[in-house]
Order: sequence, then C-alpha cells, then structure tokens
Amino acid sequence: MTTMLYCFTGTGNCLVVARNIAAGLGDARVVRLCAQTSPDASGCDAIGFVAPVYHQGLPGMVATFIESVQLDADAYVFAVATYGDDNPGVFFDNVADALRTHGVALDACFGVPMPHNVHAMRAAERDRRLAAEPARSQQIADAVAARERPHLAANRLIAPLLKWTWRLANGEVADKGFTVDDGCIGCDICAYVCPADNIAMVDGRPQWALSGGCQECLACLQWCPRDAIHYDRKHVGRYHHPQVKVHDVFVRPRVAAVHAR
Ligand SMILES: Cc1cc2nc3c(=O)[nH]c(=O)nc-3n(C[C@H](O)[C@H](O)[C@H](O)COP(=O)(O)O)c2cc1C
Ligand code: SF4
Ligand code: SF4
Repeated sequence: MTTMLYCFTGTGNCLVVARNIAAGLGDARVVRLCAQTSPDASGCDAIGFVAPVYHQGLPGMVATFIESVQLDADAYVFAVATYGDDNPGVFFDNVADALRTHGVALDACFGVPMPHNVHAMRAAERDRRLAAEPARSQQIADAVAARERPHLAANRLIAPLLKWTWRLANGEVADKGFTVDDGCIGCDICAYVCPADNIAMVDGRPQWALSGGCQECLACLQWCPRDAIHYDRKHVGRYHHPQVKVHDVFVRPRVAAVHAR
C-alpha cells in the first residue's frame, strides 16, 4: 500500500469521493477519520485528506488530526475538499497551517463540488453534481498518480476574515441545538455514526455532549431512520449521498439487523 486516504464524512459525499480516488489509484487504502483513528501514516508514499468544507474551512477534528499525524518527510501530501457552495474558502490554508506545525508542506489541492448537506439544493443541481463526481475523482486520482501539484488559492483579500470566522465557528459548542422527538425508536444509529463519539444513549434516547467534540457534521440527524432529530440552529434539508448506506458510515461495527435504510 503506497497511498493512505484519510476521509472525514458526515453524510457520505467525502466517502464516495475517497473510494473513487482509491479505485482510480489502485494502491490506496481509505481510512475513516474519527475520534479513534490512529494518526500513523509513516511508510506511505502519498497521504491524502478528504473532508467537507465547514464554515468556509476545514472541520476542526481534521485540523487537529493533521497536526498530530506521523508521516514521512518525503511523502506526497494532498488534500481534497468537497463543498456544497461554490468554492472551498480557506480549507487548504487550514490544511497547510496544520501541516506546518510539524514542518511538512501541502503538495496538492483538489476541490469537488457536491450536494450541500445543510441547505436542500435544487434537484437538478444536486443530480448534476452527483453525475459529475466520478469523472472528477478519476481526474484527481490521475493527478495524484502523476504527483501533480495544483494549488487552489483562497481569495487573498478575504482570507484573513474567513480564517477568523472559521476559528470562531470552531470555538462554538455545536451540539447545543439538537433535540429528539417521540418518533425515536432507540435504535442507536445516531450514536454509531458519530465520528466524535459525542452521543450517549440514555433510557433509549440520544443525549449529546458526551465528548464535547461535536463537529456539526449532521451525521446523527441525517442518518436517523425516523427523521426524529432536529437542529434549532439552522433549517436543515434531509440529505445523504444516495450510494452510501448507513453501515458504511458506522464508526465501529454493528449488528446487521439495523443496517438497511
Ligand atoms: C456544519 C457545516 C458547514 C458547512 N459549511 C459549508 C461552507 O462553508 N461552504 C460550502 O461550500 N459547504 C459547506 N457545507 C456543505 C458541505 O461541505 C458539503 O455538503 C459536503 O460535501 C458534505 O460532505 P459529507 O457528505 O462527506 O459530510 C457545510 C456543511 C456542514 C454540515
Ligand atoms: S437514530 Fe433516530 S431513532 Fe435511532 S436512536 Fe437515534 S434518534 Fe432515535
Ligand atoms: S453529535 Fe451529530 S453532528 Fe455532532 S459530531 Fe456527532 S454525529 Fe456529527
């Protein structure tokens, strides 16, 4: 194995992109990035980070992981942002800053427009993005195989402001707004999909703030089979990637009976 692909995902977009890049490369391993992920990529020729854009930047857990990851100094390091709006903001600046803490440069940046998992998108635009993704992921695999070094610079004028708002957003307690209604059947799925280990089941109902590390990824809300979870901080349209099944995003194994959705 020469390429390690660390993938952070809430609703499956990044998982599909990471899997398709891995298939295009042929020698890659996809590892889900969550609270339990071991940060050891030593011995890999290439290391990629695939993650969604949050608040115009990188999810906080991914930044912390990159700061701690062990990698060889001569490894080729790339980052792939998926995003629901039009551009990745300061996502790549955040990756480069995190790598710089241990003296490593970001070699290549790639963006993939995907359906937005917060705001419901027009069906035509959502379908256009889903249809375009496999070719884009293959293009990225080819560029990684050729060790190309494309860079996607954020708008230099507004980058300092975006970094500031990104820092503010990451400092907030994100799980304050979650509630659960009487439709809940106590299936535990929300707890099993949480990358931050932030949900405890108490009397058959989810309780947030277990780890205090909520990433606002919306996996708990979007994968609930009863649509019983709500978020009062913003209106959230229901979405997960159509090719991804709930067991694909479990952070640990679970019995087969509750897998189908
Ligand atoms: C908390 C949160 C913040 C987001 N902020 C942005 C953003 O600033 N810009 C953007 O283009 N998309 C934003 N999105 C949309 C996601 O980046 C996009 O839908 C992504 O593909 C989701 O990936 P996933 O399915 O792997 O979780 C945000 C999503 C969430 C949940
Ligand atoms: S996923 Fe939904 S139904 Fe299942 S325990 Fe969580 S809130 Fe309840
Ligand atoms: S509590 Fe929900 S939104 Fe927060 S990290 Fe876990 S799954 Fe994501």
